Amino acid sequence: MKPTKATFTLDNSTDPIDLPVLTGSLGPNVVDIRNLAGHGYFTYDPGFLSTASCSSNITYIDGEQGLLYHRGYPIEQLAEHCDFPEVAYLLINGELPNAEQKKNFADTLTNHTMLHDQMNNVFRGFRRDAHPMAVMVSVVGAMAAFYPEHADVSDPRLREIAAYRLLAKMPTVTAWSYKYNIGQPFAYPQNRLNYAENFMHMMFAIPCEQYSPNPILARALDRILILHADHEQNASTSTVRVVGSSGANPFACISAGIASLWGPLHGGANEATLRMLEEIGDISRIGEYIKRAKDKTDSFRLMGFGHRVYKNMDPRAAIMRQTCHQVLDELGLHDDPMFKLALKLEQIALEDEYFVSKRLYPNVDFYSGIVMRAMGIPNSMFTAIFALARTAGWIAQWNEMISSPEHRIARPRQLYTGQARRDFIPVGQR
Ligand code: SDX
Repeated sequence: MKPTKATFTLDNSTDPIDLPVLTGSLGPNVVDIRNLAGHGYFTYDPGFLSTASCSSNITYIDGEQGLLYHRGYPIEQLAEHCDFPEVAYLLINGELPNAEQKKNFADTLTNHTMLHDQMNNVFRGFRRDAHPMAVMVSVVGAMAAFYPEHADVSDPRLREIAAYRLLAKMPTVTAWSYKYNIGQPFAYPQNRLNYAENFMHMMFAIPCEQYSPNPILARALDRILILHADHEQNASTSTVRVVGSSGANPFACISAGIASLWGPLHGGANEATLRMLEEIGDISRIGEYIKRAKDKTDSFRLMGFGHRVYKNMDPRAAIMRQTCHQVLDELGLHDDPMFKLALKLEQIALEDEYFVSKRLYPNVDFYSGIVMRAMGIPNSMFTAIFALARTAGWIAQWNEMISSPEHRIARPRQLYTGQARRDFIPVGQR
């Protein structure tokens, strides 16, 4: 029988506080602690290891079994049968589109890919060597100045248009951040291309010659976007929800999500994983780095390994490994030393007691960098492409939060450990 309540009793009181237990459709139950504050108590949970911040219908993760569902559909089936715009539609609307809805959605995105021409100036305010994530945080935030009407987050139609604009323009913003970085002219979107092909065109086309995206690579990129689209209440999605809870416009929310994703413990791990593999350099040095990863006095961690929720293989990592094989075969790089090194590192780590006991498995970031590097995408763009993909999830989660009857401004409390009251001391007496 599922519990219906928890009882909170303090050892200096005989009056227990009843706390309802809420049951979801899948996964763990939650103890509803909302009325604790009324009794003068808060819970303490830095990093939110034991805290559910919201209820959501969008994504379900089972960390024990390594399951990931988007609106109930297993990620393996979505990665196999859908394209990224279709998954974005599913995340935002709750159902897979029928043929007409799918075409209309794709056409709408295609027809919103251009940026306001004055936004070019936002890029040009940066030095050429600015990290693409710094550029994206700024350009996406600046979109609020070009579309001020979206300050009204209470209007569902305006929220829908903001979703179109963000999903459609993120490939342009991402690709142009790269073009600006390498000093090439911006490549404008081509309406004849699909979402992933268009992004590859804007990344790699130059004015001097025709560019045709390799369909195998475009499909691989499309799958990479699907694998990164949403992931429940991770750090950047929680950031988007907290920023959005104050009623901030959608561009500010997504810009904040990009900023949070940038961290090496989160979306920056794919870039850090490849740098780690380049530093290891050779299979003969794997043991040295495994030793360092286990050494508490060494800050080194095995990047691309471990996860707050998955205590089994991240299902996305397995699909990414398969995509890696396909891309390297297509490019004739099946002997790619970096991929061989990653496979060996994964094998050794998964046989090592430390990683087994702590249930540390490869996560989505372990193979993604190898695939993107093989496709000619530089390290510095890996997290930017993660942000491009996660924009779909951020929008869906933001929309769900805004339209939820439980929507309130996020305002956690604290355990105060500072000075008790004391009086001011004039500077001459300090
Ligand atoms: C993403 O949340 C999401 O869903 C994120 C994400 C998404 O799609 O949004 O899945 C995307 O961010 C994937 C994670 C990418 N990050 C990395 O690959 C960076 C390396 N991994 C870690 O730093 C770590 O595993 C985290 C940040 C991912 C999770 O950190 P937790 O849950 O806070 O776990 P922890 O740091 O407390 O680690 C638990 C133990 C510790 O040892 P003890 O103190 O218990 O002895 O495991 C050890 C850690 O030292 N550990 C590692 C390790 N990860 C955890 N030791 C060596 N190498 C690692 N990678």
